Amino acid sequence: MKILVFNEEKKLDAYVGETICDFIRQHDQATIGFATGSTPLGVYQYFIDSYQNHKVSFQNVQAFNLDEYVGLKPEHPRSFASAMKNELFSHIDILPENIHALDGSKEDMDEECQRYETLIEQNPIDIQILGIGMDGHIAYNEPGSPLDGACHVVNLHQESIESSLDYGFDHIEDVPTQGVTQGIGTIMKAKQLIMMAKGEKKADLVKRMIYGEVTSDFPSSIIQRHPNVIVCLDQEAASQLKEEDYEKR
Ligand code: GLP
Repeated sequence: MKILVFNEEKKLDAYVGETICDFIRQHDQATIGFATGSTPLGVYQYFIDSYQNHKVSFQNVQAFNLDEYVGLKPEHPRSFASAMKNELFSHIDILPENIHALDGSKEDMDEECQRYETLIEQNPIDIQILGIGMDGHIAYNEPGSPLDGACHVVNLHQESIESSLDYGFDHIEDVPTQGVTQGIGTIMKAKQLIMMAKGEKKADLVKRMIYGEVTSDFPSSIIQRHPNVIVCLDQEAASQLKEEDYEKR
């Protein structure tokens, strides 16, 4: 595991953005997994700027979203599909047919999960961007999720429901109580993981993710078992790590 700690947020975003842009430029086809949440927004702005400055094209990119709320149609303004569209996809030249997501509004969610799992098996993800939730979740794999799980529906924990207020819901009663997510097993099949965390509030979580026991009680700890993972942190999120364990940027 490579751990990089950046003294400026802009440098962190540029590093992750450029790593992925480089990969896209060097391959005829690139399959990238995207996360929602506030943490990767600077990376998405980096992609938009790079596209607008003709430094990269996304026409050869297949995009896979990590997770979604159950009960919201993709076009609902608070869905993760809408968030990805507004924050990134509508500003770059990615082809609409190459944007893939779980649809949380399907009547048969088991069938929808199977469809998405199969699609990912057929289009293995080259680089998966990840963030960490306040209860240690990755995507919407809440504590207790099986470490080898496939796409599935989850009951969101109270912490995740409360965090959703940061994503534009006005009232807690408006937040769906279920999510649908790539499983930990699905995520672990990605060829490379880029885990990002920013801010003091993530410091304890980052410590447990990196030094703690690998356990389904703390799903992000699974990244310790991935053969190709880069953890990109700001100084606040890295504040509980030993300096000898990371590279300063
Ligand atoms: C959300 C999403 C995750 C995201 C995480 C961190 O609930 N389901 O995919 O990575 O929680 O969010 P943030 O970056 O806003 O802290």
